[in-house]
Amino acid sequence: MALYAVIPAAGIGRRMGGGLPKQYLPLAGEPLLAHSLRALLNCADIRRVAVALHPEDEWAGSLPALADPRVLRVTGGAERADSVLAGLDGLQEFAYEKDWVLVHDAARPCLAARDLQALIDAVTAVDEGGILAQPVVDTLKRAVDGRQVEATVDRHHYWRAQTPQMFRLGELRAALVDALAAGVAVTDEASAMEWAGHPVQLVEGSPANLKVTVAADLPLAEWYLRALNT
Ligand code: C5P
Repeated sequence: MALYAVIPAAGIGRRMGGGLPKQYLPLAGEPLLAHSLRALLNCADIRRVAVALHPEDEWAGSLPALADPRVLRVTGGAERADSVLAGLDGLQEFAYEKDWVLVHDAARPCLAARDLQALIDAVTAVDEGGILAQPVVDTLKRAVDGRQVEATVDRHHYWRAQTPQMFRLGELRAALVDALAAGVAVTDEASAMEWAGHPVQLVEGSPANLKVTVAADLPLAEWYLRALNT
């Protein structure tokens, strides 16, 4: 099976302290991006991984994982979706429109091989794109003004989307281009695919696959990483 991947790693999120964008923050002695990339490179079915980097990236040069012959560096864009599109464009030289592509955030360094494989198996079994996700466990409140509860929402209908998200390259590219042109808020690949009318299946992932967003996520991610490797 021909499988490709894109890692958007062109964000400049510096909320977490220091001058480093978060994909370069150290986790168990290596930048987040090294872990996220390795999780994909460890899957032998993935032929190439396009990594979208910021045009002024100063850190990629020191990352051995980026020297892997299956890695293709591309220049990311202003928004995450632009970076994903840059990755898909880079892959067009190698892949067919019909090939499957996995998009995975650099900020999710604890992707377990079994979760990645579960997504690939589910998508290819029914020939329908899909995403890793987790059911919401908290009781959900809706607020109009950010202060007072308007209603309690039935949490059984809600899932937290993770990455990787897996779709056919040509369909994903078209959906992203059209959704962005229509002004749709594209916060993940699935949102563009849903908007374009494609089915998106949910594949239950694990809490280990967290998106590192605030400083407190780092020790948690380190704990999960150690648990995955033992
Ligand atoms: O900021 P957020 O957590 O949503 O970023 C998710 C991923 O998208 C990160 O890996 C980040 O580097 C990437 N990104 C990107 N290009 C942008 C913005 C974010 O590749 N312009």
